[in-house]
Amino acid sequence: DEHGGVVRDLVGRRVLITAGGTREEIDPVRFLANRSSGKQGWALAHAALARGAEVTLIAANVGLETPPGARRVDVGDAAELAAAVAAERERADALVMAAAVADFTPASRAVSKIKKTGEDDVPTLDLVRTEDVLATTVRAREEQRSRQGADVSPHVIVGFAAETGQEGSSSRELAESKAQRKGADLLVFNDVSAGVFGAEDTAVEILDARGQEVARAEGTKTVVAHTLLAQVASRLGHVPW
Ligand code: CTP
Ligand code: CA
Repeated sequence: DEHGGVVRDLVGRRVLITAGGTREEIDPVRFLANRSSGKQGWALAHAALARGAEVTLIAANVGLETPPGARRVDVGDAAELAAAVAAERERADALVMAAAVADFTPASRAVSKIKKTGEDDVPTLDLVRTEDVLATTVRAREEQRSRQGADVSPHVIVGFAAETGQEGSSSRELAESKAQRKGADLLVFNDVSAGVFGAEDTAVEILDARGQEVARAEGTKTVVAHTLLAQVASRLGHVPW
């Protein structure tokens, strides 16, 4: 069952992908952002379409052309991304959270541009935590499962973790504990110690909810996307249509 060399193992499956990076507005002309390019999410969308999936992309500030055949929902900040995922998740067979979502957002947004006033005036930026969309989605599914049984969407939830090691823990150890803490079915771990945001090639380890490695991939974002989607498809394999 192949099509141009690509396995059509996601035919009829609905795959929801978040891509890009959120921007948290400080005032009308400034925001807090991150270096996510959206390329990994885009590669996932192209690969999922090639495997036969129906794809919805929740795109946070991605300046790339929408993959032909994908449905696109544009969002700006973490709160908008959270709302879009909440609105879409029940229709998705798989959710892949490739977007870099801000952990903190300004406690309030200035309605007009923040100006310099006195000579050495420096404003303080107060931040509050954003919603952890991945954790919320996993929790919502658990609650729904306990009420109505096994068959709840998204059947497969995938998180991403870009880690640098830190004092006392390697990046792999941090990813393993993140996998266990988040409870996503799969966590794509990427060691970014060398700084690879936006780079063409990447290397990842795919961990399950216990933090055990189930696959690894090295090469282009397309290679990584297909390795991940093969895992997603095999987990969806036993889910009825
Ligand atoms: N994520 C999310 N909501 C947030 C932050 C992150 O859904 N507010 C998702 C990301 O899309 C990603 C996964 O959680 O799929 C892991 O993101 P990461 O930043 O590595 O994890 P955090 O729990 O935010 O931990 P850290 O303190 O290392 O940033
Ligand atoms: Ca984070």
